Amino acid sequence: MTAKLGIIGYPIGHSISPVFQQAALDSCGIAATYLAYEVAPEEVGSFVESLRSPDTYGINVTVPHKEAVIPHLDEVDDWATRAGAVNTIVNRNGRLTGHNTDGSGFLTALRQAGGFEPTGRRVLLLGAGGAARGVVLALAQEHVARIDIANRTLARAQQLAELVQLNGIESRAIPLPGTDLVAQAASADLIVNCTTIGMSHGPDEAGSPLSAGQIPPTALVYDLVYNPLETPLLGEAAKAGAASLGGIQMLVYQGAASFEMWTGRAAPIAVMLEAATQAMASR
Ligand SMILES: NC(=O)c1ccc[n+]([C@@H]2O[C@H](COP(=O)([O-])OP(=O)(O)OC[C@H]3O[C@@H](n4cnc5c(N)ncnc54)[C@H](OP(=O)(O)O)[C@@H]3O)[C@@H](O)[C@H]2O)c1
Repeated sequence: MTAKLGIIGYPIGHSISPVFQQAALDSCGIAATYLAYEVAPEEVGSFVESLRSPDTYGINVTVPHKEAVIPHLDEVDDWATRAGAVNTIVNRNGRLTGHNTDGSGFLTALRQAGGFEPTGRRVLLLGAGGAARGVVLALAQEHVARIDIANRTLARAQQLAELVQLNGIESRAIPLPGTDLVAQAASADLIVNCTTIGMSHGPDEAGSPLSAGQIPPTALVYDLVYNPLETPLLGEAAKAGAASLGGIQMLVYQGAASFEMWTGRAAPIAVMLEAATQAMASR
């Protein structure tokens, strides 16, 4: 029997998860097919119901369905409950559980690929959308010293700063752009871009939220944007002499965590990263 796996979103054509997940399945000799499913919002419930079939391991979930799938599941784990979003569904004998591997993917990439230990460090987070929320929850768990949040819409940064403070960590909301942002960047150990600035086909694809002169050479600059692989912010970090990490690593590590839940096997990280990088480079 060939088992079924996949990712749902709307639209879904941009996703490279089928490429690197299929590479992982093939490399491990697992007889399963991972496909992309474009599912309209009104069809989410019936699609999730179909996952209870014995030949289905589960699926990944992406925008805009990460919240919408929740009412259709039998159980949602702590991470996904706190994030308010599910990116992985696992089918075990017809019972569906919801998980969120974005936070663990972010942290594993930070440590494994960035060589950065977050405990006790000062973080500047750019953005206050869905990805930023997951990153904040992950970093709060690691007891960073503070997380300042810069966002174009200040009210959203304030909401996230309150969430950070509820976790007992110092936090301030800052307008993006602005002089406060420049001052805060100067003392940051870790700068994480969770905005869509610099993203291909996004609202500001040629832009960078910080310039080289505003990035301390001692900081690690982590851009969640993975399309393109080399973003304008990563270019500015290189000019500043700062270490940097692109979003492809997080994408692969969050997918690897899903893979391990479905298959019970160790994910072949190098195979997945190679397939993901090639897929992005050929776009
Ligand atoms: N590497 C990975 O595994 C991974 C995982 C998740 C997301 N991501 C990437 O992270 C990015 C954010 O995703 P998301 O789901 O959090 O998106 P989202 O919820 O739509 O949030 C978008 C964020 O970008 C800001 N923004 C948008 N246009 C802007 C502009 N022109 N100037 C300044 N700020 C702007 C928004 O500010 P406002 O609040 O003012 O609108 C908001 O903070 C995307 O590029 C996505 O591909 C990567």
